[in-house]
Amino acid sequence: MAGEILFIIGSARPVRVGGQLGRAILDQIPGTDGPRVQVADLRELALPILDEPRMAATGDYQHEHTRNWARMVGGAAAIVVLTPEYNWGYPASVKNAIDYLYAEWKDKPGLLISYGGGGGKRSFEQLKQVLGRVGVNLVETPVNIPLRGEYGDDDRLTDPARVVADNAEVLRQAWQELLGLIGDEG
Ligand SMILES: Cc1cc2nc3c(=O)[nH]c(=O)nc-3n(C[C@H](O)[C@H](O)[C@H](O)COP(=O)(O)O)c2cc1C
Repeated sequence: MAGEILFIIGSARPVRVGGQLGRAILDQIPGTDGPRVQVADLRELALPILDEPRMAATGDYQHEHTRNWARMVGGAAAIVVLTPEYNWGYPASVKNAIDYLYAEWKDKPGLLISYGGGGGKRSFEQLKQVLGRVGVNLVETPVNIPLRGEYGDDDRLTDPARVVADNAEVLRQAWQELLGLIGDEG
């Protein structure tokens, strides 16, 4: 696991676009010569609402789901967080996953990608603040992917590859910055 980029899909809804968008990003953006990418899908991980008796800052984790999540984040060379915007903020699934851990986030190179009607900019700004609090070292380039008429009747993206292609320049720039931060850490 060490040395991989952990790509966190933040939306946990049963019908969502986050999974489509995440896969399309991974198909087009990382290239072949960087670190391997492991996907952490918060829907699949299904962490309960934070149920650890002690604060994460103690590192005293009682539950196997927490220890598993701690291994994933702690062992990663960097993280990517893909977040939608819900009611001008980011989803509870993302905050819950963050609050489970503490030291594992510290100084971790990170890339934050938001999406939503206006690119999910409000979600982005709020989450940036929280990730800063736990010590994630975010790339400078903001990535906000606007979604407006891209939905089909099934509430899914009709062409996720096109959405990513339309935002490829900023995604590639931010991804390169992330690789640079990993290099600095190493
Ligand atoms: C509970 C909820 C609240 C939403 N609020 C906003 C919002 O404040 N701003 C916005 O741009 N889009 C908002 N949307 C639209 C979402 O950005 C859009 O549905 C997106 O596809 C959600 O990502 P997901 O499908 O991966 O969960 C909201 C969607 C949901 C489900």
